[in-house]
Amino acid sequence: MLRREHAQDFIFCLSILSLLHNRMILYITTITCRKIISCRFSEEHMTSYKELGLVNSKELFRKAMEGGYAIPAYNFNNMEQLQAIIQACVETRSPVILQVSSGARKYANATMLRYMAKGAVEYSKELGYAIPIVLHLDHGDSFELCKDCIENGFSSVMIDGSHLPYEENVALTKKVCEFAHAQKDYVTVEGELGVLAGVEDDVSAEHSHYTRPDEVVDFVSKTGVDSLAISIGTSHGRAKFRPEQCTRTADGVLIPPPLRFDILEEIEKRIPGFPIVLHGSSSVPVEYVRMIEQYGGKLPDSVGIPEEQLRKAARSAVCKINIDSDGRLAMTAMVRKVLFEHPEEFDPRKYLGPARDELKKLYMHKNVEVLGSANHA
Ligand code: G3H
Ligand code: 13P
Ligand code: ZN
Repeated sequence: MLRREHAQDFIFCLSILSLLHNRMILYITTITCRKIISCRFSEEHMTSYKELGLVNSKELFRKAMEGGYAIPAYNFNNMEQLQAIIQACVETRSPVILQVSSGARKYANATMLRYMAKGAVEYSKELGYAIPIVLHLDHGDSFELCKDCIENGFSSVMIDGSHLPYEENVALTKKVCEFAHAQKDYVTVEGELGVLAGVEDDVSAEHSHYTRPDEVVDFVSKTGVDSLAISIGTSHGRAKFRPEQCTRTADGVLIPPPLRFDILEEIEKRIPGFPIVLHGSSSVPVEYVRMIEQYGGKLPDSVGIPEEQLRKAARSAVCKINIDSDGRLAMTAMVRKVLFEHPEEFDPRKYLGPARDELKKLYMHKNVEVLGSANHA
């Protein structure tokens, strides 16, 4: 028989259960709301490159491979460099890869760069021709940096694991590819095999070695990369070879040893039709080095990659050619000249303006005469 106290206990238990039940519902609702809000929030803070009007490098490389030319990959850190690149590429109707190193990102600020890339897209339209523009991370050194760039509007990233033991390079590159390729808008990834010589701010290698053709099939298939940077004798910076590796002309100009086209050909045979990238491809024009030295600079033993060798590379599976140092030399030469000739000048526009014009001239020359990318936008 149900006694009064039992009924009271039962009601008490029921009310505790219902309280717990309600709490559970409240708890679940809170968690779900939090999830939705944080998702929305992070989506709001994620910028896809398509929103900025950029493209990835997939289609550009396909066309470059077919057409026997290379896409210029020019580094930039500031407004004048970016203006010169866009003006030159619009005038020559060339697609372009805007490259940002981690050093450049620290210098210019990630938010500034994102808006500068968007500005570049709008600027090209304003100049009368919307060229395809890629925003690319140059020499990404960690998964986190690549992820951050992808979430901040980059359409392409390089993960440079070339200094790591082979298997670690494979694992890191694969991780970046899986993340980049899973985005709503596919982000292209460049990997690297082989180590370039040379030293720049954030890119240095004491011991260089050429890419081993035997590794490329395995690397490309295991990682899923969209393009592969290789080492065939180019190197970073303005002094790409030691003087003892070169010969000299009568007037003292250093002539470098030729690039290892035999290695490039071997790689092309192993991965036919796969986009290859050349880093360290500045030619280090003698005129700029002389101009810099004439106006007070010191750049001993400067030597770059001769233009005809880059022309030959551009006709092959090399679809992207990286140039930074030549732009630095052109700007510095002009800034030094203007300031030397006009010591009274202190308005930055008066020396950065001519430097920007000189840069534009240099990039137009590269697109038309060296890379062959002109009229392919
Ligand atoms: O290959 C490296 C690029 O020239 C970038 O150099 O790290 O000094 O910006 P940076
Ligand atoms: P240069 O130093 O020859 O211009 O090379 C630039 C580069 O490879 C950027 O990644
Ligand atoms: Zn490089």
